[in-house]
Amino acid sequence: MANMTKTTESAAPASPATAPDTTAATPASKPAMRMTRARADAIFAERMARHRDELRWLYMELYDNGDMFAELCDGLKRFFDERDNKLKKLDLAREEAGAWYRATNMLGMQMYIDNFAGTIKGVEKNLPYIERCGVNYIHLMPFLDTPADKSRSDGGYAVSDFRRVNPALGTMDDLAHLASKCHARGISLCMDFVMNHTSDEHEWARRARAGEGEYMSRYFFVRDQGIIDRYTRDVPQVFPTTAPGHFTYLPELDQCVMTQFYPYQWDLNYRNPRVFNEMMYNFLFLANQGIDIIRIDAVPYIWKQLGTNCRNLKQVHTIVRMMRMIGEIVCPGIVLLGEVVMAPVEVAPYFGTVEKPECHMLYNVTTMATTWNTVATRDARLLRQQTDIVCSLPRSYTFLNYLRCHDDIGWGLDYGTLSTWGMAEVPHKAYLNDYFQGHTPGSVSRGELYNADPVTGDARFCATTASMCGIEAAGFEGDDEAMEVAIRKDIMLHAYMFTQSGLPIIYSGDEVGQVNDYTYKDDPEKAEDSRYIHRGAFDWRLAENIDGPGSVQQRIFNALRTLEDIRRSEPVFSADADVRTKNYDDASILWIVRSFGDRTLHAVFNFSDDAKTIWMPEAAAYTDLVAGTTAEVATVDMPSWGFAWMLR
Ligand code: GLC
Repeated sequence: MANMTKTTESAAPASPATAPDTTAATPASKPAMRMTRARADAIFAERMARHRDELRWLYMELYDNGDMFAELCDGLKRFFDERDNKLKKLDLAREEAGAWYRATNMLGMQMYIDNFAGTIKGVEKNLPYIERCGVNYIHLMPFLDTPADKSRSDGGYAVSDFRRVNPALGTMDDLAHLASKCHARGISLCMDFVMNHTSDEHEWARRARAGEGEYMSRYFFVRDQGIIDRYTRDVPQVFPTTAPGHFTYLPELDQCVMTQFYPYQWDLNYRNPRVFNEMMYNFLFLANQGIDIIRIDAVPYIWKQLGTNCRNLKQVHTIVRMMRMIGEIVCPGIVLLGEVVMAPVEVAPYFGTVEKPECHMLYNVTTMATTWNTVATRDARLLRQQTDIVCSLPRSYTFLNYLRCHDDIGWGLDYGTLSTWGMAEVPHKAYLNDYFQGHTPGSVSRGELYNADPVTGDARFCATTASMCGIEAAGFEGDDEAMEVAIRKDIMLHAYMFTQSGLPIIYSGDEVGQVNDYTYKDDPEKAEDSRYIHRGAFDWRLAENIDGPGSVQQRIFNALRTLEDIRRSEPVFSADADVRTKNYDDASILWIVRSFGDRTLHAVFNFSDDAKTIWMPEAAAYTDLVAGTTAEVATVDMPSWGFAWMLR
């Protein structure tokens, strides 16, 4: 790609995962001390002493209930005692390593167990494939027990029992077995902890429905229409078309129960300390199965206060802070990953402060949405600005970077800035949705709207990365030239994801360019929810094509592996690097500069349909990390949707 005037040397080929030692599940580098009962007790006592005062303070502030606090402390000891010695040792190793999840050799993959391999045992059998992808962090989509009727399970996010695996997927023993097999291979496991609500088939909900006061107090029951109206006025809708409203009427009780998400997902009442304690025990129980990363689902919603929008309230932060301390007392190897899909200003506060941290990691949701905005507009200015915002945060703030996940893309962009450039929110969203549905002339994307709200005109979008990049359209039309561009776009977007500091996550199927799956429309349990368009079963035939020379799958898979391997082995990708954007006089170019020690990486991305010639800051010797060659370079030629990683 680079204009090489003089080749001076050939860089060593990107080496495969040379994993430094702070990885996911690497056991202690020192010979592990024996974990005698006395030593374990001393460890627990020390951790408790470190956190007890603050934990007690926050607990009493929220609940003013010393008995329940004492019960919680006993519970923590019990779960600590029950924690397997191997996990305790891993905790110690990770405490010593520090923020192990920041290592650049970390690469995640998010997958549905049934889609990928049928069952948990199936996932275990396919660990070699996961390793072949270079992945050492698996996010298993919700697998706990849910209502058998899939139209009432919200893809697993309506949990009926936090201690039981959905029998169709396996058992808790299978999970613990998988976790230990993963740990042996240096792979860590992430799972969802759906703490805002339970399914209406959860034992608590069943007993509440039967009128047991103790259980009713774990949810929000309301008779007064005035209160319902006030919530309706002040609280935005989560699913305005698929599940409008915030309450569900229960004829057997002649009352309404709060259901911010689907009517079968009852919001838990965290004003009740019983709910908090029990949910913490559930969290610890799951951690003790060998889970490494707990994704706290929909966390901004967990505290409700009439008269507010019931999002991101300060009590939510108190609860997350307590959860962080509870983790650090019982299982400090665990990482809390916050699902905070909120406006940019609301996201970073979930890291807490340096002295009082909350989540270890957060989704880089605004960057994700802004990336796709850039694809549709070919205007990288907003992405530059967003990148600068993220880079101005303390480096210890670790983001999870992704292009696609199991959810829709909500167009949570900085409309303040966009409007100063003449782009108003409503028409801009309409443009993005038209573009990605393939309705705009020149658009190669395919996909569907999600929760199009006829009242606000708002809509979100669903599709796979490959379909949004044009692989579906090019394949359907048999257009080789278009396929070429689509593959390049797909790889460039991944390269951009890998360029960012933080933990990159590949959505299962993206490594082989899997396109949209329209069969969900034939399944009445899924047909209403267009998110299933990008939740298709993993197509193993595509994985077989990885070895087919020149196949679409091979080209994407190998390119991603090359980029991952470079990221792992080249120090300039360190999470401690200084990262900034460079102003370049072409709005479709995104230019990121990473500096670490005496190394500087110029990562340049062409978000346009035209080829570009990029002028380097000065003519000098650069190593093109992808080509593996070093040369004196003044300009770099880039095809449409191309990129370059140029190291000095
Ligand atoms: C989270 C999940 C989403 C689910 C919702 C309700 O946002 O990502 O898939 O519908 O929580 O639990």
